[in-house]
Amino acid sequence: MKIISSPRELKEYLKNINNTVGFVPTMGALHEGHISLIKKAKEQNEIVVVSLFLNPTQFLKGEDLEKYPKKDEADKKICQLSGVDVLFFPQASDMYGVDEVSILAPKVRGYVLEGESRAGHFNGVLTVVMKLLNIVNPTRAYFGKKDAQQLNLISLMVKQLFMSVEIVPVDTVREKDGLALSSRNAYLSKEERVQALKVASSLRTASAMVSKGVLNSYEIITAMREMLAPLEIFYVEVLDREFSPLSHVEIGNTIILVEVKVATTRLLDNIWL
Ligand code: PAJ
Repeated sequence: MKIISSPRELKEYLKNINNTVGFVPTMGALHEGHISLIKKAKEQNEIVVVSLFLNPTQFLKGEDLEKYPKKDEADKKICQLSGVDVLFFPQASDMYGVDEVSILAPKVRGYVLEGESRAGHFNGVLTVVMKLLNIVNPTRAYFGKKDAQQLNLISLMVKQLFMSVEIVPVDTVREKDGLALSSRNAYLSKEERVQALKVASSLRTASAMVSKGVLNSYEIITAMREMLAPLEIFYVEVLDREFSPLSHVEIGNTIILVEVKVATTRLLDNIWL
């Protein structure tokens, strides 16, 4: 596995490669969720590039940038064992200068759900993803459905800015007890982790209601909110795949999304029905 930290060097290296390139952007502290993205990229492409970059511009003031888990050496091993061909491992100074050009998230879709409580977060995400895609110029790039709004906004950017990369969504990987894997789960104490399980179980309840024919969004949201209490709830929403609210679940076109705070940790999850 080649490890490259300079954007120019990576561009130079990839210029001579005529194979299909699959790209998996990450912020490190890799877990099985990230690994499933890498596996899918390996299945579908001849070369796999992973980036490991804790992007400062997507954290707001007072958020967890400083305490975000850092596991660089373990991450490098995981990438090597997963068959990654190139690991892009830049410093912030390799990625950003002064007086920067940046991408603005759309005024509506970028400022609802996670974007409402983290105003400006998605500007940082879209800008770094644009930079990374321009450096790697992949055939396909892989993003988790767990961060459904991020996936939606990146797909929108690629479409609206006429970019040629194919965005591939990947299913959420969960612990045996249902908790969606997340680098931020490391913040949870034993007791908080038990509280966190309510998120996945509220989504299982929603799915069971739909299986029994309860399609009314209000009924589903009410039942989920009752289950999540007394956690601080940022949102529980029933949306279509384009992120517009639905009064009734439409099978094959629905995402039910939740975000809560357990102690100081934000947890988000969703199911695609
Ligand atoms: P990060 O949180 O490290 O996640 C990297 C990728 O892994 C994202 O596409 C995310 O959706 C996916 N992922 C996380 N948990 C997952 C799970 N349990 N199952 C499946 N996929 C999962 O998301 C980011 O980094 C950053 O915002 C980034 C896109 C890299 C830009 O900085």
